[in-house]
Order: sequence, then C-alpha cells, then structure tokens
Amino acid sequence: MDLTQNLWERFGFSDNPYDTRALSFSERALLPISKAFIGREMDSTESYVITNFFRNPGGGRVVVEGDVGVGKTTFVNYHRFLWEHEAQDRLLTPSSEISVYSTWTAQAFVMSALGSLVGRFLVLKGKEWVHAHDLLSEVAALTHVYIERSLRWSGSVTVLGTGVGGSRAIERTSNVPDVGMPQLISYLEQIAALAYDEGFAGITLHFDNMELLMQADPEALGRFFDEIRDVLQTPGYYFVFVAPAGFFQTVIAPRERVRSIFFGQPIVVPPLSEHEVLAVLQKRYELLTTEAGRWVSPVSDQLVAHLYNLFRGRIRFVMDAIQNIVSYVPEGLPGTISDGMALEILSTLAYERASQLLTPTERDVLVAAAGVEEFTNASLTELTEKRKQNTAIYIEKFVRLGLVRRLRQEGSEVFYEVAADMRPLSPGSAASHEE
Ligand SMILES: Nc1ncnc2c1ncn2[C@@H]1O[C@H](COP(=O)(O)OP(=O)(O)O)[C@@H](O)[C@H]1O
Ligand SMILES: [Mg+2]
Repeated sequence: MDLTQNLWERFGFSDNPYDTRALSFSERALLPISKAFIGREMDSTESYVITNFFRNPGGGRVVVEGDVGVGKTTFVNYHRFLWEHEAQDRLLTPSSEISVYSTWTAQAFVMSALGSLVGRFLVLKGKEWVHAHDLLSEVAALTHVYIERSLRWSGSVTVLGTGVGGSRAIERTSNVPDVGMPQLISYLEQIAALAYDEGFAGITLHFDNMELLMQADPEALGRFFDEIRDVLQTPGYYFVFVAPAGFFQTVIAPRERVRSIFFGQPIVVPPLSEHEVLAVLQKRYELLTTEAGRWVSPVSDQLVAHLYNLFRGRIRFVMDAIQNIVSYVPEGLPGTISDGMALEILSTLAYERASQLLTPTERDVLVAAAGVEEFTNASLTELTEKRKQNTAIYIEKFVRLGLVRRLRQEGSEVFYEVAADMRPLSPGSAASHEE
C-alpha cells in the first residue's frame, strides 16, 4: 500500500468532503461558509425569525434548538457571518462559537465572552492596537486563557505571539482572578462602546452545546440562568444559545424572570431536506475537486437517500457513515462504491461494535430494537419475547454504553431509540434498499 496522505485523491478531491465540523468563517475552515452553506433560504421560518431577532436594535437573547447533527451550529454561524459581513448595520462577532463546559459558572461565562471579544479585536485590529487600549489590555490580562482558546479555534493563535504558554495557560483556568460581576458587566459595556466606535451596531455572542450544561444538572442550569440574567441585559449584545430540542421549555420557560428577557419562542432548526443534503455533498465535491469537474462521487445518490431516511435527515450522521464506508473500502476498487458494499460495511461495523460490547443475547435484543423507530420497555419485551425485568436490564446497559438514547417520558412510560451509529444493525436497513 502506498503511504500517501490523501485518501480522497482517488475520487479527485484534495480533502475530505464529509468533514463533519460545523461550517464556520474561521481562517482554519476547510470549506468557506459563504460558498458551502446550502438551503435555509431567507423565507424559511428559521432564517426569517433569526433575522428578525437581529433586527431588534439594542440587543436580545434567543435560544436556537434542534436535534443533534441537523445543522444548528452551522446555521447560527451563517447568520452571524451575514450580519458581520453583509449587513448595513453590522454586528461584530468572534469568529468561532463559544463552546460551553459542563463545569461553567456565571463568572466563567462572562470571562469567556470577554476573552473571545479581545480575540476578535486582536484579529481585526492587530496586537499594537489592542495593547494601546487600556481597557482591552486590562481585559486581556484577566482573560488570556479564554482569548487563547478562542484564537486556537479560529486558527489565528499566532497573533498572540509566543507570550502565552499553552499548557500553563490552561492550568490557570482553575484559579482565575476573582473579579465581581458588576466589574465584568462594566467591561462588557465598555467593549460594546468600543465596537460602536469601530462602526458596529452591536455584538453577537454564540454559545454552543448547551446540552453539556444540561446533562450535568438541569436544576443547576436553571440557577445559572438566574445568575447571568443581568449580564444578558447588557445593551448592544445579541446572545444566541444553541441547545437540543426542549431546552427552552424545560430550562427557560419555567423561570418567569429569565423567560421574560428572552425572545418569545425558541428558533427551531429542522433537518435539511433530502434534496438539500444531496446539494450539500455536490457542492463539497465541486469545492474540493483538484481538477475542475474531474471527480467521481464516492457513493450513489440512492445510498445518500437511504442514509438520509435511516438517520432521519440528520446530515452529520449521513456524512459520518459515508466517511466510514470510504475508510473501509479496499483501495484497489475504482469508481463509485456499490450500494451493496456500502451497506454491508455499515452493518458489519455496527455489528462488530455491538458484539464487542455486548453478550450475544444482548446484541440480538439491540438488533431487534434497531428495527423500530422507537421503543419502550413493554414494546421491546413484546418484540423480543424476553422477560420484562431482563429487558429493563438490557436497556439500562445500552443507555449506559451510548448504544441507545432516552427520548422522552409519557406518564410512566419511557421511550428510547437506538443511537444513530447503531441503526445500520437493523436487518431492514439493508434489505429495504435492494431495488
Ligand atoms: N445548511 C448547511 N449547508 C451545508 N452544510 C451544512 C449545513 N448544515 C449543516 N451542514 C454540515 O453538517 C454537519 C453538521 O452540522 P452542525 O452545524 O455541526 O450540526 P449541529 O450543530 O446541529 O449538530 C457539519 O459538517 C456542517 O458543515
Ligand atoms: Mg452543533
């Protein structure tokens, strides 16, 4: 085997078209968001509602919700990009979304916002300019860990120079200087004023992956929002929180004081259509082609359509699956991978993984579960003809291993679904495809 670096060359691409990182406008991005973004036109509900959110002068707070892998982060990045680059009233925004940590406090929340804003000014105006401003120098000294983090993600860590040592800086997160909330809010206000001076109408802050905080402790998350309520009202700031479906209803809505400052409803991001998912891939092939027009599609459109249905439209899982398929196909085979081989690879991968983690009996129960949309203890018991107590034990183990996901509770019944990467286990998943 040639040890060349490009797995994608044989299809005519310079890089991986199925990269599942959210599209962003950071310098390090493989695909430019302005070109690779597909669908969600301005007349789609999600796009016009978020546009109207940003059209409220003075700032605001909104929750953006949707299933894992439908394109939430990319959607918000795209609108932030439009408002920073193409709007008449431009809104300044850090190039990367701010990733939330499960251990976050209100103070860490503001510090990360401040840090990513200093990072943005470093990229926008340069180091000298930033150091010439007392305010920014002061905030930079306070938040350098967060600045470094935001710059690392945007791929521009070099603007910081060599002054900040990587690992040493990270250690300091545990003993950040104890600055009171009023002082931190005052910094935010002064930075907003600076942005106005630079010709911006406001600042957008995008907090991603709220589920990490949610999983840790929903109650504590509620208290967290009580604590940051004042921060969220700083004039000139647009706070966007990206979260899983149900976040607004369970965390924000029950707290009247918090709810009252939020945009009335969450913005729900639905999956792209099948046609749009195909268009996303087509666009990526074109953008990554090494010789214009000389590429072969690694998989057929029918296979993509099949995966689209299997993963209920969640494009992240569709692309992950194709990437797995390509990685397992023997090198010598030219052209588009046959559907039969592609499906065989996916179900074999899922089967091997299940067999490693489970006993044969447990594995067979999981295979049965993968054949249905969703299930409860009772329905799975009926399906597999096992004893109810045993089914409960299997389900508990599947959930613990991440093979099954808890969906919701209705009365005393809990509904589950098989995790996306285990769905190809279902015998029907391959059979239904043979045309
Ligand atoms: N509208 C879109 N146009 C092009 N690619 C998209 C679009 N939406 C999502 N993607 C791609 O799908 C993958 C998953 O999107 P992401 O935004 O990370 O989903 P989520 O945040 O909902 O988990 C990423 O690789 C992203 O680039
Ligand atoms: Mg995301």
